[in-house]
Amino acid sequence: MNIYVLKCALLIFFSSATPLCNGLLNIFLNTEEVQKLLGLDAELYYVRQGVINQYALNFVIPVSSKIDSLHFTWQNLGNLPLQYNINLDVQHYEAFDAPNLNISKTGLVPTSDQTFSIHLPCTALISSESDVLISINIALIPTPVALKIRRKKICMKIETGLNTQAVDAVPIRINSVKVFYYAAVCAGILAATSVMCIACVYVRNKQTRTAEEAPTNQSFTSFLPTTIRNPTTSSSYSSFRRMPSYSLIEERPTSKDLQDRIAELTIQRCRVCLQNVILEGTFSRVYHGTYTNEGTVEEEVLVKTVTDHASHVQISLLLQEGMSMYALKHPNILSILGVSFQENSSPFLLYPFHNYTNLKVFLQKCKMCSEGVAHTLTTQEVVDMALQIIEAMNYMHKKQILHKDLAARNCVVDNRLKVQITDNALSRDLFPSDYHCLGDNENRPIKWLALEGLISKTFLTRSDVWSFGVLLWELTTLAQQPYVEIDPFEMSAYLKDGYRLAQPINCPDELFAVMAYCWAMHPEDRPTFVQLQVCLKEFYMQLTRYV
Ligand SMILES: *[C@@H]1O[C@H](CO)[C@@H](O)[C@H](O)[C@H]1NC(C)=O
Repeated sequence: MNIYVLKCALLIFFSSATPLCNGLLNIFLNTEEVQKLLGLDAELYYVRQGVINQYALNFVIPVSSKIDSLHFTWQNLGNLPLQYNINLDVQHYEAFDAPNLNISKTGLVPTSDQTFSIHLPCTALISSESDVLISINIALIPTPVALKIRRKKICMKIETGLNTQAVDAVPIRINSVKVFYYAAVCAGILAATSVMCIACVYVRNKQTRTAEEAPTNQSFTSFLPTTIRNPTTSSSYSSFRRMPSYSLIEERPTSKDLQDRIAELTIQRCRVCLQNVILEGTFSRVYHGTYTNEGTVEEEVLVKTVTDHASHVQISLLLQEGMSMYALKHPNILSILGVSFQENSSPFLLYPFHNYTNLKVFLQKCKMCSEGVAHTLTTQEVVDMALQIIEAMNYMHKKQILHKDLAARNCVVDNRLKVQITDNALSRDLFPSDYHCLGDNENRPIKWLALEGLISKTFLTRSDVWSFGVLLWELTTLAQQPYVEIDPFEMSAYLKDGYRLAQPINCPDELFAVMAYCWAMHPEDRPTFVQLQVCLKEFYMQLTRYV
């Protein structure tokens, strides 16, 4: 089996193909068009040799305000003439200058390859998102076929004086389209390519690349040539030459900061009363306890601490990581309440406690009794939890803080399924199988890390997005270990080859598409948390609409 087939097997959900009775016909988007709309080097077939890709027809491709023409390529491959008629239906006519088709609305499908365009320029008078429906009817005998191709065209109102940058920054609504297109594109590859062909094109790609290679961003060159691509077409690397525009935020407190923060949060040890152990590692302990503050009000707390076996390094890491989310105030973030740090004894980190459980532990418990009476999560609950996490991440990123270790183990959840993100202090010791060293002394959450983090230890806001995808996968699998069968040392090669986590059983396609979208090779191709929010909110509404 060749590698592309394997890759596709991971990404494909299903593709229902309906053969047209007696029309041999191609209708597709050429490479240029797919590159323009979806940033992929591939062709996308709506009809290939008379076989309709229903799956591709079902997805609505968003069209950014900067693109004002849509292109389709078609050809009649058979001997019988095929009569067509094309209709265009636009939702907000006032947003567009007269839409215009550069072929006749009715006629015969050409017998040689023809590209036609639909010119749909925005007026820039109003901002809108319009559904555009392109109906192509082919008069086949005995039954005519009606293909409905959909686009969502975004138009921006441009006011004089507004700079273009501001216009660009308006979040574009994404659907989970891209991923579905990987799948659709893959379906095409499966149908049409041989190993030979792949070999040829691979060599050709390599040559093109050497010839065109320009000095680009160092940290990304190492995984340039391995995005999922269609081997039947020659590829352009234009999309990879863009300079990254995502933000890079530095957030670890300096030691001066750290001391200030500790000073500010210091509480008296005698006011803390430890009760029972909630979680336990080789040298870490997490307790439930109480804290009596100045006004003698007793409040319940969670206490993270270490045993006497802990080394200096471990203690300083506990403090540093415990302080990483200091001063964040958000309903979905569990931020630190106080620290007690005394000579000759282990530090205590205090967090407010309100009957929550560690999310990973909670999910594993759900799993253990999922056959019995206990609670299993519905899709709606999963999406709701995901949305809470997104809110928190949005807030953190706004505060210029990267999480860097977003995972179920670093969240807590209560019995009403309210989720809060926490820092990762002690997680390495409490969940040792989630962390690995790759030859260095750094114990990292390898299986949650984005490719750039694995390869060059770069960390971007979109690296948190990647981890969020894995967290979503944890939610839908009730905290299975991701990539159990993969050696941590092999992870970067595995990801570079285009492999990803498989779709969990019972996980709806829409949700899996969101995850897979978070795992785009190139950080810029991943959604932002703002986009994820729009996308999942919409999905949530769809779910609740029929209840
Ligand atoms: C329609 O326009 C596109 C691009 O603007 C061009 O590539 C194509 O050849 C045109 N098709 C016809 C039939 O004129």
